[in-house]
Amino acid sequence: MATVAEVVSELAERFSRAGIASALADAELLVGFVTGWTRGEVAAKAFMGTELEPDQLDQIAEFGARRESREPLQHITGQAPFRHLVLDVGPGVLVPRPETELVAEWAIDALIQVPSPSPLAVDLGTGTGALALALATEVPHSRVFAVERFDDALEWAKRNIDRLGDDRVTLVQADAADALAELNGTVDVVVTNPPYIPDAEKPADIEVLGYDPESALFGGDDGLRDIRTFIATAARLLRPGGVFVLEHGDNQGAAVRAIATESGFRGATTHTDLLHRERALTAVR
Ligand SMILES: C[S@@+](CC[C@H](N)C(=O)[O-])C[C@H]1O[C@@H](n2cnc3c(N)ncnc32)[C@H](O)[C@@H]1O
Repeated sequence: MATVAEVVSELAERFSRAGIASALADAELLVGFVTGWTRGEVAAKAFMGTELEPDQLDQIAEFGARRESREPLQHITGQAPFRHLVLDVGPGVLVPRPETELVAEWAIDALIQVPSPSPLAVDLGTGTGALALALATEVPHSRVFAVERFDDALEWAKRNIDRLGDDRVTLVQADAADALAELNGTVDVVVTNPPYIPDAEKPADIEVLGYDPESALFGGDDGLRDIRTFIATAARLLRPGGVFVLEHGDNQGAAVRAIATESGFRGATTHTDLLHRERALTAVR
C-alpha cells in the first residue's frame, strides 16, 4: 500500500526529472484520472493520508511511465478540457490549447452580438471540433459549420460533435481554400486556429513534436502559408460587417494585420494572451 501523498510526490519528482514543466499538476491529474477524483479531491486525500488500492497503483505505474516518456497527459487520459467541454483526443489530432480558449471567447462575444435569431459561424481547421463546439454550446441559438481537411483529425471532430453537438453543428470535410462556397457572403463570424509555425522552427516540447500532427502545426517557410489561405476564405465567406477571429504565432501580429487589410478587412487588431504574447487577430469584413 502507498498513500496518495507518497504516490503524487514520487510521480511529480520523476516527471520533473523528465523535463515536464507541469510535473505536480500532471501527477495530481493522473492520480485523479485513475481514481475518478478531481484534482482538488486528490490534494484533500493526500492531506488526509488516504491509501491507494493495489489495482490503482498498477494503473498509476503504467500511465506514469508513459507520461515520464513524454507522452502527452491528454493522450494517456484520452481527454482534453476546453472551456466547459471535455473533448476526446488522441493520435492524429492537435490537443486543444488553453490559449485557444481565449480565441473562442472573442468569437463567442462577436457571435452573441449578431442581431439575428440564428447567427451563422464557421470554424476553419476544426481538429477536435473545439472551437466549433464552444461556439455552438455557448451561443445556443447559433448554427456552426466545422471544416476539416485531414482524415485523422476529421474522425476526432466527428466523435466529439456526435457526443457534444446537435443538429446545429455541421461537420464538412474540405480544404479551407475552397470550402463552403454555398455560404459565400452570408457568414456572421469566422473563427480559425490554422497551422502557423514556420517549417524550420521545430517545437522544443516532445509532447508537441512527437504527438501533434504536422498538418496541424506547420505553415510553410514563413508560417503564413495557411494563414493567407484561411484569410482569403474568411473574406469570401463573411457578410459585410461579419467578424473574423484568427489565432496566430506570437511574432506574427503585424504580418497578419497587413494580410487581412490587403484582403479587404477593416479594423485589423492584434490581441495578446494572458502571458502578453501576440495571440490573435480580429477584423471586420
Ligand atoms: C492548429 S490545428 C487547430 C485545431 C483546432 N481548431 C484547435 O484549435 O484545437 C489546425 C487544424 O487545421 C487543419 N487544417 C490544416 N490545413 C487545412 C486546410 N487547408 N483546410 C482545412 N483544414 C486544415 C488541421 O488538420 C488541424 O486540425
